Amino acid sequence: MSMDYYQPEVLINEDEIAKRVNALGKEITQDYANEEVVLICVLKGAYVFCADLMRKINLPVRLEFVSCSSYGDGLYSSGRVKVEMDVTGPIENCHVIIVEDIVDTGLTIKNLVELIQLKSPKSLKLASLLYKPSRTRHETKIDYLAFEIDDKFVVGYGLDYAGRYRELPYIGFLNAGH
Ligand code: IMP
Repeated sequence: MSMDYYQPEVLINEDEIAKRVNALGKEITQDYANEEVVLICVLKGAYVFCADLMRKINLPVRLEFVSCSSYGDGLYSSGRVKVEMDVTGPIENCHVIIVEDIVDTGLTIKNLVELIQLKSPKSLKLASLLYKPSRTRHETKIDYLAFEIDDKFVVGYGLDYAGRYRELPYIGFLNAGH
C-alpha cells in the first residue's frame, strides 16, 4: 500500500447498502409488474450500484451505459456536462430507469434526463444511490433513492476521488486534511 493511501471512514456499511438495494429492487419489480425495463447505468460511479440493483429486480432487464463528465478529477463541479458515451441499444417506447451514483448539484442528471427524453422512452424514471439535498441547484425528482446524505464528499461502492476508492465495499468519507 502506498504511503499516501488513507482508509476512508465508514458512513454507510455493506449491510445497510444491501438492505436498501434489496428494497429498491423489490419496489421496481412491483412498479413495473412483468414489463421489460431498460437500466441506463451512468458510468463510472453507478456501475457497482447498478450491478447489485439489477440482480434484485425480478423482471426482464436490458442494460445500457452512458458516460458523462462534470467533475474532472477534483472535488468541485466545473458546471459543464459532457456526454462522452451514449446508449447503443433501442430506448424508444421502452420503460427506462437511469441509474446514477449520486445527485449532488443535480446538473449531471438534469442534462442526462433531457438527453434521454429526446429518445422518446415510454416512461423515464431515476434511481440514485445517494442524494445531497443541501447542495441541490437543479431540482430533479428521484424516484428510487437509497440514501440521503449530508454535504460530505463520499467515496467507495463505485464512487471515486481522483479515480480512487471505487473498490471499497462501503460508502465512506475522507477526513479533512486527507
Ligand atoms: P452533480 O452534477 O453536481 O449532481 O454531480 C454529480 C456527479 O458528481 C456524480 O455523478 C459524481 O460522479 C460526482 N460527485 C458528486 N458528489 C460526489 C461525492 O461526494 N463523491 C464522489 N463523486 C461525487
